[in-house]
Amino acid sequence: MNTADFDFLAGTLKERSGLMLTPDKVYLLESRLTPLARKRGLDTLDALVQKLRMKTDQTLLKDVTEAMTTNESFFFRDNTPFDLFKNHVLPAMEKARGTQKRLRIWCAAASTGQEPYSLAILLKEAGIKYSNWNIEIVGTDICTQVLEKAKAGKYSQFEVQRGLPIQLLIKYFTQEGDVWQLSDDIRNMVKFRPFNLLDNFAALGTFDVIYCRNVLIYFDQKTKGQVLDRMRKVLASDGTLFLGAAETVLGITDSFKPVKGQRGMYVPSDGTAEQLMGLG
Ligand SMILES: C[S@@+](CC[C@H](N)C(=O)[O-])C[C@H]1O[C@@H](n2cnc3c(N)ncnc32)[C@H](O)[C@@H]1O
Repeated sequence: MNTADFDFLAGTLKERSGLMLTPDKVYLLESRLTPLARKRGLDTLDALVQKLRMKTDQTLLKDVTEAMTTNESFFFRDNTPFDLFKNHVLPAMEKARGTQKRLRIWCAAASTGQEPYSLAILLKEAGIKYSNWNIEIVGTDICTQVLEKAKAGKYSQFEVQRGLPIQLLIKYFTQEGDVWQLSDDIRNMVKFRPFNLLDNFAALGTFDVIYCRNVLIYFDQKTKGQVLDRMRKVLASDGTLFLGAAETVLGITDSFKPVKGQRGMYVPSDGTAEQLMGLG
């Protein structure tokens, strides 16, 4: 791939999804976009770039963007963000939202659904305590293909073996040949919809908890800052933000601060969440 084509593709992807591609990632463009070119009846990657340059085919732009996303996810990934949710966030929300009994959780890069479903299972396991609460879990992602898989709630043996304790597998899934089907009970607890983190957040409403894990790593510093600042605006002042293990707010934005000693957990800098959770 020549430099002009690389620059064009990298620029297009950054503008469309925030994904930052450095020249050492040419191999990634080639390995992910060549199959797409073939699927579209185009002989080479050059031909695909030419077609994209013509800007006449919006679905091609969408397909290219989706092909370049990294969708790796697994149940209860990294454990800590789920333990912290169970042991600190939920008890704090019980105190603060005990009257309204309403909780909104946003998984902002939900991919194939394991993260929001892990939260749904965790809440279900908490049982009767939250049965009369109105709890909404919203899972969004830029990639519509992964959202289709998430909605279906069908996972392979390999996928259910990653992070999901066996007793939860048996309790909430049924085996259908090679596939493990998540129960309707859990599936109905999560609403999935396409959403680009570069877009305006206003239509999403406000949340008490946001999981935005393992997506900011693909953005440049400026984009990370802009996304985090907008997240602050849709998070309650006593709410909590979880980022991935390789992500932070430090040096990026003052809207959030890390919760001391609690990896991946952040709260609004001007908020009251730490005191509420007894972590201040
Ligand atoms: C590595 S997965 C993370 C999944 C899950 N949060 C986890 O930690 O297991 C990253 C996801 O971010 C999504 N993504 C990338 N750019 C995005 C954007 N601009 N807006 C929304 N989602 C995006 C990708 O499609 C992908 O599914």
